[in-house]
Amino acid sequence: MSFSHRHLLGLENLSRDELTFLLDTAASFKEISERDIKKVPTLRGKTVVSLFYEASTRTRTSFEIAAKRMSADFISLSSSTSSATKGETLLDTARNLAAMRPDAIILRHSASGAPHFLAARIDCPIVNAGDGSHEHPTQALLDLLTIRERKGRLEGLTVAIVGDILHSRVARSNIFALRTLGATVRLIGPPTLLPPELKAWGETTSDLHEGVRDADVIMMLRLQLERQGKNFFPTVDEYSRYFCLTQRAVAGASPEVIILHPGPMNRGVEIASDVADGPDSVIMGQVTNGIAVRMAVLFLLVNRAKVHSSSEAEAPVAETRPPAARLRRRAG
Ligand code: CP
Repeated sequence: MSFSHRHLLGLENLSRDELTFLLDTAASFKEISERDIKKVPTLRGKTVVSLFYEASTRTRTSFEIAAKRMSADFISLSSSTSSATKGETLLDTARNLAAMRPDAIILRHSASGAPHFLAARIDCPIVNAGDGSHEHPTQALLDLLTIRERKGRLEGLTVAIVGDILHSRVARSNIFALRTLGATVRLIGPPTLLPPELKAWGETTSDLHEGVRDADVIMMLRLQLERQGKNFFPTVDEYSRYFCLTQRAVAGASPEVIILHPGPMNRGVEIASDVADGPDSVIMGQVTNGIAVRMAVLFLLVNRAKVHSSSEAEAPVAETRPPAARLRRRAG
């Protein structure tokens, strides 16, 4: 198995083997973050640039931590502090950054397709960190890794995805990958956020209790109010009355259900606090897994020419232990 793509723009067109390889590579990176000294030389001498045109806490920070844990130099730009404020276009900004010869550019943008637009025009690997309502591939990969860890598999699981399906890039990336990996997807939300064409992707319902019944996994979504050009429901209060995940709704799911939310959470709107912080929640585990997933993605894209098999992909992790750890292992 291998991952030979130059960019990571989405999960829609990735095969089962490619998704599994990405998850396996991420799993192999996890132990680095458990070490006392969380740094390996895997990407020493490489430069990663992040370019965020939308706000972010988790994605931007975890890409930075991931790059730095592999010893890459990490340069972070946001649209509010870049020359975008002076009218520079996305393409001109990216061309100028590419002229400085980074080894990867991470892009978050409100326009669906923005990373694909750049990937076709600049000579540098592009990682999609969320494009409009289109895809958020690293979020879905960390979701999949979290589910696989807790459930031991993805195939055969029933995953209920609840909320603003229409505008959610997290939902889209997860739907594509979950279906490829053999899970059954149920989509739950108000009819206005659940257009009929989504039936092609999974069962749909506007009844939260029916939708989560016997589900193995419940994935809550944030209301994407910033992407909703018109009123899709009367009030946020009304939305929460029907679609906020409460303990009562969770009681109808599988007894071993796990609950995910990509963050940021609107407590009391999408998810009740006692559910978000309760024993079935794996939300903080998702955040932890975000580091390993982003390490894997950067590693595979930046080292693309060197990585052609899973055995070679495992080697850099093992080889890049800090010298003291290597010596201790040899001595042991
Ligand atoms: N899940 C997610 O993308 O969070 P941020 O917007 O904080 O990056």
